[in-house]
Amino acid sequence: MSPDSGSRQNFRVIPRSRLRPAAATSIAAVLAVAFAIAFAGCGGGGGPSEPRSGAAIYAQTCATCHGVDGQGGVGPALKGVADRYPDIADQIAVVTNGFGRMPAFRGSLSAEEIRRVVEYERTELGA
Ligand code: HEC
Repeated sequence: MSPDSGSRQNFRVIPRSRLRPAAATSIAAVLAVAFAIAFAGCGGGGGPSEPRSGAAIYAQTCATCHGVDGQGGVGPALKGVADRYPDIADQIAVVTNGFGRMPAFRGSLSAEEIRRVVEYERTELGA
């Protein structure tokens, strides 16, 4: 007796063309939602999520030392910071690389986030 003779007929193959595209689409949709929730939940911090605004980065990352309104604390007040760094690239370098007791942020903020928070300091806190 041939081992396959009976079982072949019971084994129903669902045509790929009918099943696969729909299944793949729904799996992708579930993954996209899961990733969106995961990244929204972690609140950024240099991940591949959309960069936060300069104000949000400042409040979460810099305000503990520089004060919520840039009035200073552990770090210096930021009033007049744009006068001390006429070239924005120099202020970006300070935040990127740190100096003295100012920590370096190149490991925790993206270049885009550093530029945003520096612009926020210059326009909103440094005036
Ligand atoms: C752990 C405390 C701390 C945190 C957090 C911190 N800073 Fe600082 N920052 C300092 C200190 C202290 C200095 C002064 C360094 C020195 O003179 O030794 C400084 C200096 C600076 C300066 C130069 C100011 C000037 O007038 O020369 C800038 C600009 C600056 N920080 C931006 C930032 C930004 C942007 C963030 C957030 C991404 C941040 N800092 C987070 C402590 C901190």
